Amino acid sequence: MILPITVYGNTILRKVGKEIDENYVGLKELIDNMFETMYKAEGVGLAAPQVNKSIRLIVIDATPFAEDDPSLKDFKKAILNPEILELTGEEELFNEGCLSLPGIREDVQRPTKVKIRYQDENFNTYEEVWEGLKARVIQHEYDHLEGTLFVDRISAIKRRLIHGKLSAIAKGKHIPNYRIIQNK
Ligand code: NI
Repeated sequence: MILPITVYGNTILRKVGKEIDENYVGLKELIDNMFETMYKAEGVGLAAPQVNKSIRLIVIDATPFAEDDPSLKDFKKAILNPEILELTGEEELFNEGCLSLPGIREDVQRPTKVKIRYQDENFNTYEEVWEGLKARVIQHEYDHLEGTLFVDRISAIKRRLIHGKLSAIAKGKHIPNYRIIQNK
């Protein structure tokens, strides 16, 4: 089932998500729905707050980029309760977009290497080091679980320049081609 996506101005995007465990009801179905929703909206990653659930769950599918980066060939995952243990490597600018910020793209500076601990959909725990696009996507999605959006990570001047676009989204004057949930 395709779920509506929360957009800028919706307060759930500013909340810190709660950890989940085996008792979370309907987890498999939610994960399936999040993948379906992400594919429909042509995203690479989607965090639960973007489908109106304040929990620590992310889905990622970066396999379309495997042509450029073979390490992404199998990079399709549901990620539960992630913890960023270490950020290293050079800082790099990369042009980011977000399904909760339709029509906005900005260069965002982030470290290129991340050490992460997370659980899969069966609650097996992994500790891994991710680089490149993997590191980029997980940092962006992890931010969603902390109530942070990529526009918080650009300069005040750049943010002022897109202020009009942001308020248009919050006021429902900019509607993308997927279903959304606005302010509440
Ligand atoms: Ni996003």
